[in-house]
Amino acid sequence: MKIEPGDLAAVMERDPAVIDEDDAIRYHTGLHAVSMYRKSHRLWLEGKFKKARKINYKAHALTGCDIHPGATIGEGFFIDHATGVVIGETAIIGDDVTVYQGVTLGGVSIEKGKRHPTVGDRVVFGANATVLGDIVIGSDVRVGAGSVILKDVPNNSTVVGIPGQIIERDGVKIDKKNMLMHNDIPECVNGEIIRLQSEINRLSSIIEELRSSLSGAASSDPAATAEKAKNREK
Ligand SMILES: CC(C)(COP(=O)(O)OP(=O)(O)OC[C@H]1O[C@@H](n2cnc3c(N)ncnc32)[C@H](O)[C@@H]1OP(=O)(O)O)[C@@H](O)C(=O)NCCC(=O)NCCS
Repeated sequence: MKIEPGDLAAVMERDPAVIDEDDAIRYHTGLHAVSMYRKSHRLWLEGKFKKARKINYKAHALTGCDIHPGATIGEGFFIDHATGVVIGETAIIGDDVTVYQGVTLGGVSIEKGKRHPTVGDRVVFGANATVLGDIVIGSDVRVGAGSVILKDVPNNSTVVGIPGQIIERDGVKIDKKNMLMHNDIPECVNGEIIRLQSEINRLSSIIEELRSSLSGAASSDPAATAEKAKNREK
């Protein structure tokens, strides 16, 4: 079995239970699933669909992971505990992604075409997370164990629950209950309100200046003043 150095390095970095490289190469079912997927994917790209599916079948029987050969998966892909991972044909996954047991990146349609998730780099899918449809999970996202994700998730977020709710973004915790409590709004929202307020102040002072310069101009122009007076008399 050919093992990509990036995939082996991912196991060594992210699995504290592994003894050494030899242990990983011999007994890490997640690493075996990834290696077999890589081979099946190469065959798939060469148009050898039946051979690719045969390896996919063997990998599924051996490791419990069903990764379709058509899926596109970047470097450093790490599956821990292997069992029950399902990744659909049109899924696209970036680099250094981690998947725990029971994760599904599945479709919600039987139509051909792009129907599985697109995932950025350095995403972690907690055990049994289910991500459905042609949605985008941004980079540096953490998906909570047992979550069901049905909508796009922005970069740098943590999403948990059923259906998934974003609980943290760009390092700021999002507390939905308290969103309207002005004394306790997240720093990023607070900063945006302050920026808008100062912009309003700036525009108000420009309007004020224009108004006074216009009225000054009118009063210093005798012809305009006479015209105004005439209009008032009408
Ligand atoms: C999502 C996750 C990454 C968040 O970790 P964290 O940033 O340390 O978050 P916290 O533990 O501080 O929890 C934050 C809030 O989210 C809730 N939460 C955390 N994980 C959750 C989950 N999977 N589902 C639902 N709610 C969850 C917590 O209850 C907490 O809610 P509260 O603020 O109302 O008390 C982590 O909980 C997780 O699920 N990791 C997956 C790990 C895994 O699958 N390991 C398998 C090893 S075999």
